[in-house]
Amino acid sequence: MKKVVLSLGGSVLMPSLEENRLAEYASVLRSLSGKASLLVVVGGGGEARRYIGIMRDLGVDEGTSDEVGILITRLNATLLIAALGDNAYPKVAESHAEAKKYAESGKIVVMGGITPGQTTDAVAAVLAERVGAAVFLNATSVDGIYSADPKKDVNATRFDAITPQKLLEIVGGTALGAGSNTVLDIVAARVVERSNIPLVVLDGRDPKNLTEALLTGKFRGTVVSKSKKNPLPL
Ligand code: UTP
Repeated sequence: MKKVVLSLGGSVLMPSLEENRLAEYASVLRSLSGKASLLVVVGGGGEARRYIGIMRDLGVDEGTSDEVGILITRLNATLLIAALGDNAYPKVAESHAEAKKYAESGKIVVMGGITPGQTTDAVAAVLAERVGAAVFLNATSVDGIYSADPKKDVNATRFDAITPQKLLEIVGGTALGAGSNTVLDIVAARVVERSNIPLVVLDGRDPKNLTEALLTGKFRGTVVSKSKKNPLPL
């Protein structure tokens, strides 16, 4: 079975504890698990930013604040494993090597962050490289990659397809403080560029978009690839 690495933004899975999409995503992932070998990297979401905010208020450094972010991503990963029940490998992978090992079980593998100074998008990009994924999916809270942040710039335009080089130009100037929120972090963009694994950025606020994209190849989002070939459907 082809391997798919999914970076599931905390902003779509866990905008807050009250508005979580755990049950919906568990159902979508379960339905896809017979079609592909799934490895999911879960973000921190609103709660991670709240905890990081407290650390900042206390005057704590960025690296230590990142560690708190990582703990929250792992907490969210634990919740998703619980929601997936028997379909998931029962333990949160704490390294890429562990994730690779757990994938041999045939179950859905779930992990969060691993190291300060990056986001879970970077974790997922390297995981895609290490397991030889057919595609790297990024489910986030915008419907693709824009020329600028569409939440801040009304003139931002959306791309259907771009090269990894163009992606690097777009995210190159963005900051990477603890809890920072850009469409993809620079570390992830660099890994996408070197790995040649196609990246698909799509709107994860409706979990059904993921099913549509993987099974029909129809989706609104952005493909980042050197090749002009659509990496989906699988
Ligand atoms: P993410 O930035 O990946 O979660 O991790 P998110 O913001 O919910 O994801 P999106 O924006 O929806 O895609 C939250 C924070 O945890 C720390 C960083 O501070 C990050 O901003 N983190 C996460 C790390 O330091 N290292 C990691 O490997 C992962």
